[in-house]
Parts: sequence; structure tokens; C-alpha cells
Amino acid sequence: MNNKITIAIDGYSSSGKSTMAKRLAAEIGYRYIDSGAMYRAVTLFAMQHNMISQSGTPDKDKIIAALPDIKINFQIQDGTQSTILNGVNVEKEIRQMAVSNNVSPVAAIPEVRHCLVAMQQAFGKEKGIVMDGRDIGTTVFPNAELKIFVKASAETRAQRRFKELIEKGSRASYAEVLANVVHRDHLDETREESPLRQAEDAILLDNSNMSLEEQNAWMLERYKEACSK
Ligand code: CDP
Repeated sequence: MNNKITIAIDGYSSSGKSTMAKRLAAEIGYRYIDSGAMYRAVTLFAMQHNMISQSGTPDKDKIIAALPDIKINFQIQDGTQSTILNGVNVEKEIRQMAVSNNVSPVAAIPEVRHCLVAMQQAFGKEKGIVMDGRDIGTTVFPNAELKIFVKASAETRAQRRFKELIEKGSRASYAEVLANVVHRDHLDETREESPLRQAEDAILLDNSNMSLEEQNAWMLERYKEACSK
């Protein structure tokens, strides 16, 4: 297993992709990139600069014009990865409901996608990467050696995300989280530019009834299989 591969994990909102991807990357010594964090960072930038209306409509022209001013990096400290937007650690802020509520329309802007996809491809140039998102197996790395598509019922996903937010001290309600999950699924699946869909050669995982341990063990097996091909 000397040759490093590219691993693309796509799927629905809050399906546990990031947990799986992070764990696998740590275990096999690969770099992990959370592509959703990048869309969230652009959204936060747009919110900070009044480029999104009260009703949630992004000002596309302003956001496109600002793209060269948006620098996104990742920093690893004590084993946890943080998203850095123009030099500022925004990891906590980008996970807030306010950003979740605005991100999908921003992520639907083709120019935003082109810009972030190019950055993502640059991160993966050397392989040895696990990236999670919505279009990693279809658009970012169509030649990835291992592609996983994760799904679970909307209620299961909302429950997981709700628990996570509460544990982090956020005051979201379950109903609000469920509505956001369902709404984002719809926007992500129906947008014109690289919509959320399973790549033909992706392995489907429904983890509705799987524990974290089972899920991680399953993922490691798929990695070993892909390496032995
Ligand atoms: O963590 P969660 O499942 O809530 O979503 P995320 O991975 O943080 O992504 C947030 C949003 O970014 C998604 O709902 C998509 O609208 C967008 N996104 C995308 O369009 N393409 C990606 N590769 C990753 C995220």
C-alpha cells in the first residue's frame, strides 16, 4: 500500500460524512479537507459584508467580485482542524445556524463553485487526501480511486446535528434543524451547477442504523479494498 489514493466522500447534510472522513484520514495518515467549510466561509464573508439580504438572497455580483479577496486555509491544532478565513479562525462561527441557513444559495453560484473547486483540486494534487462534500466524486475528483456516498433519513440526520449544536452551546431547536436539513437537501439536489448526486462509481452507505464504530470500521475496509485494486 505505498501509493496514496484520493478518497471522495459525498452525501446529504449532516449524514456523518465529516466524522467518517476525519477519522479515516487520521487513521491512514491522509490530509482531510472539509469542502463544506469552504462554502460556509464564503457565506460568512458575504454575511459580514452585507452581501446577503434579510430574506437570504445573495447579491451574486458582489460576491463574485469579492472572490479574489477571500482566502481560506485550514489549520490543525491539538489534532483538531479549524477553518481560517482571511487569517481569522472562523471554525465556530461557520457552524452556526445563521450560516447554515444562508449557505446553499451561495454554494449554488457557479462562479463561487468554480473558484472553490479549483482550490480543492489544488489541495488534492498530491493525492493522499480525504475530502468530503456534495460534488467531490462527481466534479472535484471524478477520477478518485474511492468514492463513498452517504445517506440517512432526514430525521436521523437532524437529530445528530441538533445534538451536536446543543453540545456546543447553541440554542437551536430540533424543528429548526430538521427544516434546515430538508431545505438544504432540496436546494443542493436541484441546483444547476454540479448538484448533489451519487457518482455512478460511488459506493452507497446508508448509516441510519450504524454506530460510529461500525461506520468507521466499514470505511476502513473500503479503503483497504480500494488500495488492493
Ligand atoms: O455539515 P453539513 O452536512 O451541514 O454541510 P457542509 O458539508 O458543511 O456543507 C454546507 C453546504 O455547503 C451544503 O449544504 C451545500 O450547499 C454546500 N456544499 C456544496 O455545495 N458543495 C460541497 N462540496 C460542499 C458543501
